Order: sequence, then C-alpha cells, then structure tokens
Amino acid sequence: MRLIRAKNYEDVSVKAGNIIASVINLKPDCVLGLATGSSPIGTYKELIKKYEAGELDFSKVKTVNLDEYVGLSKDHDQSYAYFMRNNLFDHVNIDQNNCNIPSGLTNDPEAECAAYDKLIASLGGTDLQLLGMGPNGHIGFNEPDEAFFPATHCVKLTDSTIDANARFFATRDDVPKQAYTMGIWGIMQAKRVLMVVNGKNKAEAVKAALTGPVTPKVPASILQLHPDFTLVADEEALSLLDL
Ligand code: GLP
Repeated sequence: MRLIRAKNYEDVSVKAGNIIASVINLKPDCVLGLATGSSPIGTYKELIKKYEAGELDFSKVKTVNLDEYVGLSKDHDQSYAYFMRNNLFDHVNIDQNNCNIPSGLTNDPEAECAAYDKLIASLGGTDLQLLGMGPNGHIGFNEPDEAFFPATHCVKLTDSTIDANARFFATRDDVPKQAYTMGIWGIMQAKRVLMVVNGKNKAEAVKAALTGPVTPKVPASILQLHPDFTLVADEEALSLLDL
C-alpha cells in the first residue's frame, strides 16, 4: 500500500487528480472505475480544470461506476448517473456512450448485475478504480457483512449508511433502502486502486481498514490485499493512526 498524506480536502483532491490525470495521459483509452459521494467531487473538479487547461483528453476514456440506488432513474437528481454527469461527464469531452453505471430501474436485477460484471471483463478490467469509503468502512455499497460478496449484486443499505446519505435527500424516508453495487471482484480486479478519504468521521474506518484484520465486517480492509493500492487521506482521516 502507498499512503499519500494530504493537508486537507483540497490537497487530497489535487493529489488524486494528478494520479488519475497521469493514468489518462499514459493510456488515453484507459478504463476508469469511478465513485460517487462527496469525497471524489474535488478530484473530479481537478480533472475538469486540467481538461479546461487543455492538459487532458477524455475522448477515448471509458468508465464503469461502482453503484446506483435501486428505484432511481438516471434523471433523478440523487441518482449516481445524474451525479456523474453533474460532477464530471458534462464538463469534459468524454463520450457518454462509454460511461457505464448499473441501471436503478432494471426489471431484471440478476441479469443486470451479471451483465455488469461481463461488461467489466469485456473492457479488459479497469486500469484504475477510484474509491471513497463510508464511515462504516463500506466501499461502493459493499456493506459490513459476514462474507465478502464478489459479484455485482443488490444490497440492503445499513441504517448507518442511510443516515450518512440522508443529507442529500429531502427526508431520511426518501433515501432508497437498496442499491446495486459492484462487488469485491469488480473492485479488486482493477490494476490500481485509489482511495480518497478526508475528515474526522472517517478516522475510525481508516484505522480499521488499514491496520485491522482483513474482514468483511470492514469491507475496505480487503484493500490490504490489493497489489497496487494508494490511499490519499488528509490529516483528520489519518489522526488515529500511529504514523
Ligand atoms: C456512498 C457511496 C460510496 C461512498 C460513500 C462515502 O455510500 N456508495 O461509494 O464512498 O457514500 O460518501 P462520502 O464520500 O460522501 O463520505
């Protein structure tokens, strides 16, 4: 694992943006695994800045996103499809036909999930998977559980995740109770994994994921086993580690 210490959120975003930009520049037709949540928004802003400065070309980039809420259409303003357009895709020269996100409205969840893993495989896997992390250590929507779940699947969100994500919805009741998520295979097959984490409310999860046992009770702990895992974290998120 590579740990990159950042001063604050802005610094996390600049450092992560530089890493992703270098992947795109070295391989213009790379496949990026992308994430939602507030953590990567600054990273996406950095990528947009570089694109506007003429330093980045997304025309051949392909993407696969981690997850989507069950029941939300791609035009719902809290769907992850909308989030990605709003925070990245609409602001760069990416071909949105090359941007993949599980459909929240599928009538056949099993087929949709199986097709998603086939799609990842058919793209040759991801060159880099960007991740945030939930305060309970979840990655994508792989929630703490009794076992790691490899395939893309439908999950019931935990109360703590519903609480954590309620800030984006009008009321807690509006937060979907289920989501489709790439599984641990989809994340771990990436050639590189880049996690961005900031803030005190992630410090416990950072400590458990990095220094605790590899356990499905802390899904991010599986990243200890990834051969090319980089964590970019700010001082607050690292505050419980003995560094
Ligand atoms: C959601 C997403 C995760 C994300 C997490 C943390 O649950 N499914 O991919 O990592 O939120 O969000 P935030 O970055 O807003 O703390």
